[in-house]
Amino acid sequence: MLDFTQRLLLCALLGSVYASCPPRCECSEAAHTVKCVSKDLRTVPTGIPGYTRNLFITGNQISRIGPESFTGLENVTNLSLSNNRISEVESHTFARLRSLRTLDLSNNQLAVIHPEAFTVQNQSLRELNLSRALYNHSSVLDLATCLRWSSLGSLRVLDLSDNSLIYLPSRIFSHLTNLRRLQLSNNSLVAIHNSTFLGLERLEELDLTLNALKTVPEEGLTELDSLPRTTLLLGENPFICKCGIEPFTMWLNRSQGRIRDVEGLVCSFPASMRNTSLLVAGRLTLGCHQRDAGGDLALQTSYVFLGIVLGFIGLIFLFVLYLNRKGIKKRIYDMRDACREVWEGYHYRFEIDSDPRLSQVSSSADV
Ligand SMILES: *[C@@H]1O[C@H](CO)[C@@H](O)[C@H](O)[C@H]1NC(C)=O
Ligand SMILES: *[C@@H]1O[C@H](CO)[C@@H](O)[C@H](O)[C@H]1NC(C)=O
Ligand SMILES: *[C@@H]1O[C@H](CO)[C@@H](O)[C@H](O)[C@H]1NC(C)=O
Ligand SMILES: *[C@@H]1O[C@H](CO)[C@@H](O)[C@H](O)[C@H]1NC(C)=O
Ligand SMILES: *[C@@H]1O[C@H](CO)[C@@H](O)[C@H](O)[C@H]1NC(C)=O
Ligand SMILES: *[C@@H]1O[C@H](CO)[C@@H](O)[C@H](O)[C@H]1NC(C)=O
Ligand SMILES: *[C@@H]1O[C@H](CO)[C@@H](O)[C@H](O)[C@H]1NC(C)=O
Ligand SMILES: *[C@@H]1O[C@H](CO)[C@@H](O)[C@H](O)[C@H]1NC(C)=O
Ligand SMILES: *[C@@H]1O[C@H](CO)[C@@H](O)[C@H](O)[C@H]1NC(C)=O
Repeated sequence: MLDFTQRLLLCALLGSVYASCPPRCECSEAAHTVKCVSKDLRTVPTGIPGYTRNLFITGNQISRIGPESFTGLENVTNLSLSNNRISEVESHTFARLRSLRTLDLSNNQLAVIHPEAFTVQNQSLRELNLSRALYNHSSVLDLATCLRWSSLGSLRVLDLSDNSLIYLPSRIFSHLTNLRRLQLSNNSLVAIHNSTFLGLERLEELDLTLNALKTVPEEGLTELDSLPRTTLLLGENPFICKCGIEPFTMWLNRSQGRIRDVEGLVCSFPASMRNTSLLVAGRLTLGCHQRDAGGDLALQTSYVFLGIVLGFIGLIFLFVLYLNRKGIKKRIYDMRDACREVWEGYHYRFEIDSDPRLSQVSSSADV
């Protein structure tokens, strides 16, 4: 009897250990999945079972993660920490998750990202989601350093959408040599600079929709041409269709084959051109040259006007002189008299100084 209860207790104990699941989480051993969703957690819970492959700790209040947050989780392949308040990721935070393939940090507030924050021991990381994850544009500098130092040579997908990025530091992606898909949509990028996409030799898709590109000048076109095998998305940018846009529209025509949304690219400004396809706008160059000629004419007109005004001012000056001619004559005579006096005084002194007798007198007087 006692033996039986003891055995029962042991079984229950074993069972509970086997099926252990951290409080406020749901664990499914069959699906290798643990979910701790919207439970007000402030830290990553301990006691997550070792069989876990899919770990979701989303919609909580976690603000800081470090290497101690994830131990004994060598089987975790998918990790989502989205919708938390994570502001700091320490170096080697995920290093021991050596099966980690996809990491979702979207919807956080990353302000401090340490240089080796995304290093994973086995270089197994394939997908990194940082959509709406950066606190503000300043975090991009930390991010650039981190992408360089985290040994992300196996990364295939990087999502940086919805981040208010204004520019991308030069060579920010240069160590992501296996990247296939780069999401940069819904940022505030105004230009594409030299070396921005350096090193992305295997990139297959680059999404630049919903940014702040008004045109893409030569530098940016050269940079995009350095990714000849990449499919591009450029829609929903505030393109301005004015003189000088021809190189861009010609490039669009030439590159139609690899711009997936080329048919949907339209002018945003000026108002008269709104919704006009950029491909069509490129053919309206004639109007542009006419406007150039008009500009020249306006410039010439303004020179003529300036000449007339200067001439008029000169005439007024001469007229004033004429009206004052008596006063001026008097002043000139006065001046002449004054000059004469000065000159005579000078002449007198000079004669005294150069008279040898007088100088002898003065030197002997000194002795
Ligand atoms: C990871 O999974 C393997 C195979 O399913 C298993 O043998 C191993 O014990 C697991 N690791 C841990 C820490 O539970
Ligand atoms: C990880 O998540 C992706 C989808 O996000 C899914 O296709 C894949 O099967 C998951 N991996 C595992 C091991 O369940
Ligand atoms: C390292 O990653 C490879 C795939 O990238 C995987 O096959 C291997 O099992 C991983 N090694 C360990 C120790 O997890
Ligand atoms: C990244 O996360 C956002 C929001 O959670 C999601 O909409 C997007 O599809 C994810 N990106 C990738 C590449 O899975
Ligand atoms: C980003 O936030 C930090 C901390 O609040 C602040 O010092 C910095 O000026 C902000 N940068 C931008 C571009 O707003
Ligand atoms: C763009 O990102 C902002 C946050 O940065 C978000 O509020 C907005 O809904 C996003 N817009 C779209 C169309 O996804
Ligand atoms: C871009 O940078 C490379 C070297 O990094 C240089 O050779 C090239 O001339 C630059 N191009 C432009 C347009 O500045
Ligand atoms: C431009 O097109 C959008 C939808 O395609 C439409 O809602 C908008 O009214 C159009 N604007 C003009 C000025 O035609
Ligand atoms: C593209 O350029 C060719 C000439 O190179 C021209 O015939 C064609 O009409 C252009 N297409 C568009 C859509 O402008």
